[in-house]
Amino acid sequence: MKGSISRRLGLMFALSVMLITAVSATLLRCSLKQSLEDQMQNELILRHSVLDPVLAKYDSPAFWVGLREKLDGLTPADERVRYWVLVDDPAYSYGGAMPDGQDWSKRPDGFSTVELPDRHRPMVLLVKTIAAMGSRPELRFIVGLDSTPFMKTLDQFTKMLILISALGVVLVALLGYWIARFGLGPVRRLSRQANSLPPGDSKQRLDTEALPSELQELAVSFNGALARQEAAWCQLEGFNANVAHELRTPLTNLIGQTQVALAHGRDVNELQDLLQSNLEELERMGTIVNDMLFLAGAESGQRATELSDVSLYEEASKTVEYLEPVLHDKQLNVVIKGDMRVCIDRRLFHRSLANLIQNAARYAVPESVIIVRLESHGMQAQVSVSNAGEPIDNVHLEHLFERFYRADAARARSDAHHGLGLSIVRAVASMHGGRVFAHSKDGLNTFGFSLTSQAAR
Ligand SMILES: Nc1ncnc2c1ncn2[C@@H]1O[C@H](COP(=O)(O)OP(=O)(O)O)[C@@H](O)[C@H]1O
Ligand SMILES: [Mg+2]
Repeated sequence: MKGSISRRLGLMFALSVMLITAVSATLLRCSLKQSLEDQMQNELILRHSVLDPVLAKYDSPAFWVGLREKLDGLTPADERVRYWVLVDDPAYSYGGAMPDGQDWSKRPDGFSTVELPDRHRPMVLLVKTIAAMGSRPELRFIVGLDSTPFMKTLDQFTKMLILISALGVVLVALLGYWIARFGLGPVRRLSRQANSLPPGDSKQRLDTEALPSELQELAVSFNGALARQEAAWCQLEGFNANVAHELRTPLTNLIGQTQVALAHGRDVNELQDLLQSNLEELERMGTIVNDMLFLAGAESGQRATELSDVSLYEEASKTVEYLEPVLHDKQLNVVIKGDMRVCIDRRLFHRSLANLIQNAARYAVPESVIIVRLESHGMQAQVSVSNAGEPIDNVHLEHLFERFYRADAARARSDAHHGLGLSIVRAVASMHGGRVFAHSKDGLNTFGFSLTSQAAR
């Protein structure tokens, strides 16, 4: 239930309804309160309009006896309506002192309220001054209306509003939750489908056809991830086989030679030769294992760390110088074109450029020229090595950077080239945030890699 979308949607629906009902309930209550207040004022105005002319007409104390009786008659037993006549001459006064004990003779005419000691709600008053007439002095006539019954209506209405709103909110929350659950049905179906994918069968994919459009993208991405996983798995399987294969030959040689040596008596010189030959095999195995470890490190996301700011031209010249003997055998010349300053791991740069030049030297036409190009592409340096040689089939070009891949597989297994050179070039490129490329065109084979200057990243 934690973090459930249905619950969150239900809650959000409920919150929205809460907000909407709170606003509309407040508006409704205000409007009812206003109309109740209008109603009270209208009633006060009506009572004044009936009684004011009578009071104005009665101008002697004798008449006031009758008027008092009339006002008594008009005052209900529950004192919901009350009357006061305020005047200095006690012969004309009615209703006694005001309930709040204040002097109301100084208050302005019009509507006001007064608190009653025994009621919760105030009494609404309409005060009017009636001019003197004959022997009767000027007097103030006050009609009061208890607001309790009106406010009771308002309170009841408010309670009802709150109840209905609360009920509405709960209902919407439940409905929202249900709608969301219903709407999310395809997601559950999708996860069931994903769950039921058989563990051994990496070819299985989710069925995207039956899904609503919103989920199709997710399912397609998921299928993409499965496909990549499958590819990685296949590569890994092939890779294990390759490692075993690569190590088997030197191991078989070592075992065979040692067995033969042990079977017959040997003199020291022969044993020394044997050990020398064994050492070579062991060194070959050591190189493979070291290269493998280096590739594993790069693949786990290791980055170049020993950085220095260098001129690629100078570094490439050093590599070429170091490889002079290899180039000399086939009378090859190396031309370095272009230059760029970048911040890279120079040891790794030498390693990958040397791999490329060694390959070029191996496959170049004798007495030809190998071209090393150093170009800058924005923040990236692009290093490529071209040699004149047999065209390489596109089928191979795509795979040459893979571990243990050799275009001329049959020949390669026997010699010192175990097919990791270009994988190391690719690893070095990726450790510098770069890529590798290869193309074969017009009798020229080019292999290269790019590097992002590390300080600039
Ligand atoms: N300059 C080149 N010309 C033609 N083929 C090449 C060149 N460089 C590499 N290759 C092909 O790519 C394969 C892989 O190269 P690499 O990874 O360096 O392995 P290795 O050199 O150990 O065979 C080589 O076996 C070869 O078939
Ligand atoms: Mg090589």
